[in-house]
Amino acid sequence: MGIEYWLFQLKSRAISPAHTMKILAIETSCDETSVAVIAEGVVLANIVSSQIKLHAEYGGVVPELATREHLRNLLPVSEQALNLAGVAIANIDAIAATQGPGLPSALLVGLYAAESLAFVLDKPFVPINHHEAHLYSAWVTGNPLRAEFSEFQPSVSLIVSGGHTLLVLVEAELRHRVLGGTIDDAAGECFDKVAKLIGLPYPGGPELDRLAQFGNPRAYAFPRPMIFDSSDDFSFSGLKTAVRYFLRDHPEVFESRAAIQDLCASVQAAIVEVLVKKTVRVALRTGVKCVTASGGVMCNSALRSQLNAACASEGLSLRIAERGLCTDNAAMVGILAERKLLKKNGERRYDFEIAPGLALV
Ligand code: KG4
Ligand code: ZN
Repeated sequence: MGIEYWLFQLKSRAISPAHTMKILAIETSCDETSVAVIAEGVVLANIVSSQIKLHAEYGGVVPELATREHLRNLLPVSEQALNLAGVAIANIDAIAATQGPGLPSALLVGLYAAESLAFVLDKPFVPINHHEAHLYSAWVTGNPLRAEFSEFQPSVSLIVSGGHTLLVLVEAELRHRVLGGTIDDAAGECFDKVAKLIGLPYPGGPELDRLAQFGNPRAYAFPRPMIFDSSDDFSFSGLKTAVRYFLRDHPEVFESRAAIQDLCASVQAAIVEVLVKKTVRVALRTGVKCVTASGGVMCNSALRSQLNAACASEGLSLRIAERGLCTDNAAMVGILAERKLLKKNGERRYDFEIAPGLALV
């Protein structure tokens, strides 16, 4: 395997019958190495190699380790994706990769590998904004996963991940405007930091979600930061600090499993209420009829069900990304690249640089 594999695939160039555009997409912005193959809105393969176990002992993502793992995993994961899709590398029509935002050295591995490959294959290359990919992942559903852009309508989109919390007005496909973001910690960061205070293993979000299911969300009253603020921004660092002080003043909570479960449920309720209320408020204010939601935190069961209930009671249709597409994956990168290619032919340009702080505009 390795370079020999790519050369072999290139030499065995074959003509695919009934040609449909096939895209190879690569995602390495954080701690997931992912490669997907997309054809006509269908996800033919979406392989995700997670590094969670590797980073768990450090309590967070270690950039150097993440980068080394991406280097190790990218070729085998690519091979797996192509094999699963039944597509030879020579029959790929375009390559896409995440350009940013993300960890610089992690982005570097995926972006430069993708650009080099596109150059060697003489195919267009599409750099992708990670947030934008999360945003459109809400339009991908079913088995096999398929993009449903025929049902597209103007919408308000909530993107909640480990690094970002965004409210976006999507006026038309690929035309959007960010209305609000977090002024400090992201929602996922808040889940993870609170989980760490409680002593839960990394990544804390899913574990906090699991414990919260057995707890009483009204057991402890935590602040709902900026819930009535006139802006569409969020702030979660105060909530994390409130939990820190609460635990300092109530060390007895650590003695009881039930109290920890109540604490998890109460913190989760505060985060979820802010996210749901502000999302629905923006949708009503802007007059859209549809809400979409995506990003790792949308795996959260309470958030999924409460956003669902709130949208239903306001007559808003809701599309939440499939759980498997909420956390980082290359399928969303490929799906977005395909939409971009359909609107505008891709460029044979291979000099894009990583953009670790890339904003959604
Ligand atoms: O989108 P994502 O995979 O990576 C980033 O782009 O940041 O999101 C990861 C975040 C982490 O903070 C993780 O704790 C959170 O999503 N997360 C959850 C749940 N599953 C993942 N947070 C709350 N409840 C969950 N079930
Ligand atoms: Zn992400």
